[in-house]
Amino acid sequence: MRTEAIRLGVNVDHVATLRQARKTQYPDPVRAALMAEEAGAHQITVHLREDRRHIQERDVEILKEVLEIDLNLEIANTPEMIEFAQKIKPAYCCLVPEKREELTTEGGLDVIAHFDTIKKSIASLEANQIKVSLFIDANVKQIEAAFEAGARIIEIHTGHYADAFTKEETEERLNDIKKASEFADNLGIRVHAGHGLHYRNTLEIAKIPQIKELNIGHAIVGEAILSGMHEAVSRILDIMEMGRLC
Ligand code: PXP
Repeated sequence: MRTEAIRLGVNVDHVATLRQARKTQYPDPVRAALMAEEAGAHQITVHLREDRRHIQERDVEILKEVLEIDLNLEIANTPEMIEFAQKIKPAYCCLVPEKREELTTEGGLDVIAHFDTIKKSIASLEANQIKVSLFIDANVKQIEAAFEAGARIIEIHTGHYADAFTKEETEERLNDIKKASEFADNLGIRVHAGHGLHYRNTLEIAKIPQIKELNIGHAIVGEAILSGMHEAVSRILDIMEMGRLC
């Protein structure tokens, strides 16, 4: 039996990571986003980090202008970021935990510990017609707290499933995600998922009927580099040959 279609949010942060490594104009995450839109993505996801290590404010402003599909802005729950989101007004805002020294978002938000500020941020973003999701672990207590704080969307952190080492551990983590998705869905919460998903571990997550959206970045950007390598080399060779003909 077929269930409701599942949406894909393409995270283009890592195109910006490559650009920021050299502080060049390329590769442009906005161009990548437009190509993802053309390929059928339902949304573009970007994380404006406090340290601005990849996406910059200007990228978010341009994306809001040019995209026809939804923009999902991931931000830490800080006054600076909430104010920026209110100015941009993306379709969705995903509140994520953030630590300066981390390589990537390492775990879900602790909604229980930061209940009051999260509740306040959800209310002020929604007052600006921005739909809010909370990025949390597959944990029933966190889901209950998210619901009480007013969240009607959660994004379940799939990183622990993606990082599982053995088959048994993978099964266990997948089961946690299935149970959490069912629990949230029964409360009337819309369930999204993401982090660490790639070409070999996405199928099992996409089978979970309660999950309505996946946000995937690193694996897509990595694959795009390799799929595009042949054409990229051919184009620079053409330019070099042209130089010899002049
Ligand atoms: N969802 C959230 C909330 C994230 O923080 C990230 C990483 O920025 C992703 C999805 C995408 O993760 P990945 O790049 O591992 O696919």
